[in-house]
Amino acid sequence: MPFDLLTTQRFPDDVVAPFAQRLSIDHGPPGGLLPYAEMVERVAVCRGLLPTSIDRVDAALIERARDLKVIANVGVGYNHIDVAAATRRGIWVTNTPGVLADSVADLAMALMLGILRRVAEASEHVRHGHWTENRQDTFWGVDPRGLTLGLLGFGAIGQGVARRSAPFGMRIIYHARHRVAPEVERSLDATHVSFDELVEQCDVLSLHAPLTDETRGRIGRAEIARMKPGVFLVNTARGGIVDEAALIEGLQSGQLAGAGLDVTATEPDVPVALREHPRALILPHIASATRGTRGGMMRMALENASAALDGQTPPNAVNQV
Ligand code: DGY
Repeated sequence: MPFDLLTTQRFPDDVVAPFAQRLSIDHGPPGGLLPYAEMVERVAVCRGLLPTSIDRVDAALIERARDLKVIANVGVGYNHIDVAAATRRGIWVTNTPGVLADSVADLAMALMLGILRRVAEASEHVRHGHWTENRQDTFWGVDPRGLTLGLLGFGAIGQGVARRSAPFGMRIIYHARHRVAPEVERSLDATHVSFDELVEQCDVLSLHAPLTDETRGRIGRAEIARMKPGVFLVNTARGGIVDEAALIEGLQSGQLAGAGLDVTATEPDVPVALREHPRALILPHIASATRGTRGGMMRMALENASAALDGQTPPNAVNQV
């Protein structure tokens, strides 16, 4: 039976209600994880697809979905969508910028403070019943005050992390393809540096760039070797930006004093050497997972899809058709 839209996860009723009168929606299961083959089959009779960042929307799927007019991603990163294939078929691709910036920046701070202060290690210590004496010489961490925070990528999320880090007394440097306006740099007390300077000067490196051909593996063995010994890495962007084997080696050698990761290269499979490393604080890709933000992302995706099906340019198009 044909539908207007296929969502690959069940959207809450209150999010769907304003759209449900005009649009028929085929929902995926609660929480997502609609198997690829089923997504291909179900989208074949839909005009719009609303995938999550874990759904592979490739050329084969796009080719089979003959009536598809819009792929309205529920998320800001769209590296899992073959945008070129969609554009060739005249299909809009949209994303949800802005709405999740605060939540992701908040979580990046949680990861950064978590690894600086060894929160996961100390918590495991208690959880496993090892806290049997009140020693004063355990779990000494590092104060953020006076550290240099390097931001790779300086859009809404990177800027949000800069804004949150300043009160902790951190010096902010950033590298991005496009330098921001001088007044933005001034208001955030952030200095633009080259990629080499970023890598060599930071005490904490936090990643906020999209995964593209240019950024894939950007933080590799050579970059980690050039960093200050005992540097900390935070990744709330995409796992593929970091060479994971090099990351594990860096943790094992102590070159990296800690890694706070919301994303990994082959989610949800995290190499044992990484997930069991005491200095790795790893979360299951939850940076945008708050009630307000996830609902906002779904609403925004529905607005994009609805505009495209009405023949309008969707507000958050990432391609031109
Ligand atoms: C995004 O928006 O790209 C997030 O990773 C989705 O959770």
